[in-house]
Amino acid sequence: MSIVRSHILGCGAYLPDTVLSNAELARRVDTSDEWIVERTGIRRRHIAADGQTTSDLALKAAHAALEDAKVSASEIDLIVVATTTPDETFPAVATKIQSRLGMTRGAGFDIQAVCTGFVYALSVADNFIKCGQAKTVLLIGAETMSRLLDWKDRATCILFGDGAGAVVMQAGSGHGDARDRGVLGTQLYSDGRLHDLLYVDGGPSTTQTTGKLRMLGKEVFKHAVVNTTNAIREAARAGGVTVDEIDWIVPHQANQRILDSTAHKLGYPPERIISTIAEHGNTSAASVPLALAAGIADGRIKRGDLLLLEAMGGGFTWGAALVRW
Ligand code: UT7
Repeated sequence: MSIVRSHILGCGAYLPDTVLSNAELARRVDTSDEWIVERTGIRRRHIAADGQTTSDLALKAAHAALEDAKVSASEIDLIVVATTTPDETFPAVATKIQSRLGMTRGAGFDIQAVCTGFVYALSVADNFIKCGQAKTVLLIGAETMSRLLDWKDRATCILFGDGAGAVVMQAGSGHGDARDRGVLGTQLYSDGRLHDLLYVDGGPSTTQTTGKLRMLGKEVFKHAVVNTTNAIREAARAGGVTVDEIDWIVPHQANQRILDSTAHKLGYPPERIISTIAEHGNTSAASVPLALAAGIADGRIKRGDLLLLEAMGGGFTWGAALVRW
């Protein structure tokens, strides 16, 4: 029996030119390179230039993904952008990308699931493709988290950075088992009771300002390890594979210690978890596609490999996707 599978045809990424090192941050707040590296694994992050917007980053990643996929903008039916830092409260970044790609057809919208945004958007895109409402989807995770930071709060401003990653997905076919190429399954979760552990203290209908990111890091850390471990196990189980069979875990990049603890809990080799955290810190919805692009660019991820994408963020939201690359 043949079924519809969302194949991922190509991937692209973009990081802004400006690099902010731990040493430079230590000149702004009471911190040190040693503390940041030891507690998080982050060494540097990229920061968007003045005037450079989320859609500017998203567009560059989109061009790279379209080129890699050998797909032209005119073939796209749907653009889904995962972001928590849109250029404006409305319209969606996706519609800006649509016009900047010169598209005159199709549809676009943004998804707000904070750091889990890319996994949520992947799930939405996969379902649009599977139900036949879209054939070719451009999926982007893009963020300018630097604009949401309280640069006086050393507990949060050291963690985040700016960037964008994108993939092109297209309807293909499969047999309905884990040997198929493409998206094999997605698991999404949220628990709104945990709002106060990670949120932004502003918004259009409350303060009429953008607000700043607030986080109780230690609490978020504990939930992150438990939730992502469970999501990975459930995605593997639903896909009919064991965790051992996963070639690469491509995770949200929040903290190297979260990745190490997750590997330990799963009994999974840490060297098979793609970590880019040292280079760009936590880029929220952009971090999974940035890690994916890095793993492909350096030759670790090869066509046919079984990938597990996972993320966890404000809301709380978390989720995982099993993908045969
Ligand atoms: O993307 C969404 C998901 N986000 C996450 O998953 C983030 C999860 N949380 C974390 O990554 C970690 O909890 C942090 C990196 C945020 C913090 O690390 P921690 O080991 O949990 O540190 P802590 O908050 O328990 O703080 C330990 C100490 C405190 O000092 P005292 O009270 O022991 O004197 C903090 O004030 O470290 C201090 N501290 C710092 N010191 C130097 C906090 N931030 C810094 C800093 N530099 N930047």
